[in-house]
Amino acid sequence: MTHPKLTLVDHPLVQHKLSLMRDARTPGPDFRRLLREISLLLTYEAARDLPLKTQTITTPLTDMDAPVLACADPVVVSILRAGNGLLDGVLDVIPTAKVGFVGLYRNEETLRPVQYYCKLPTELSDRLVIAVDPMLATGNSSAAAVSLLKDAGATDICLICLLAAPEGVECMAREHPDVRIVTASVDSHLNEKGYIVPGLGDAGDRIFGTV
Ligand code: URA
Repeated sequence: MTHPKLTLVDHPLVQHKLSLMRDARTPGPDFRRLLREISLLLTYEAARDLPLKTQTITTPLTDMDAPVLACADPVVVSILRAGNGLLDGVLDVIPTAKVGFVGLYRNEETLRPVQYYCKLPTELSDRLVIAVDPMLATGNSSAAAVSLLKDAGATDICLICLLAAPEGVECMAREHPDVRIVTASVDSHLNEKGYIVPGLGDAGDRIFGTV
């Protein structure tokens, strides 16, 4: 199964930067910078359908009807903690976005995600809500985070992830077929420890130097 709303960003700059990130020898500061840069480029795709209107402006030469955004400020929601690695790249291109955070951990008995933190902007219903998490692995935590956003009123949701596993894509297709996914790669599979293969290892550890 694939996802009806999955966009694979195969732009050469994205693919080149992703390969640098996958390389185990890439140092933490480079990894963080590359993630921010790719995040900016993935946001460009996530925002492709934002509506425009025209507004009369005056250039140094003449008046013109210029296209400007005709929507409420988007919201970006970081799925903690690795989502924070994508946050600044989104804000680089959408500086007026409001920011929310969702924290989830996995209950080791039920294996289900449990919420430990949630702080969201109040208005979610009439705007694009971009959830960010670099790794769509099993999909359980992303799907739970998206459910939480829907419960809070979000109707137009896009999940930006750097890498996806087929298992995570299937999970999202089952639970949230209406939610767009923008990713730089759908990798081969998950290994027995839940890591994406070939992947790039633990994204949070590589972003924050906790390896
Ligand atoms: N989370 C990660 O950080 N890496 C993976 O490969 C899977 C989940």
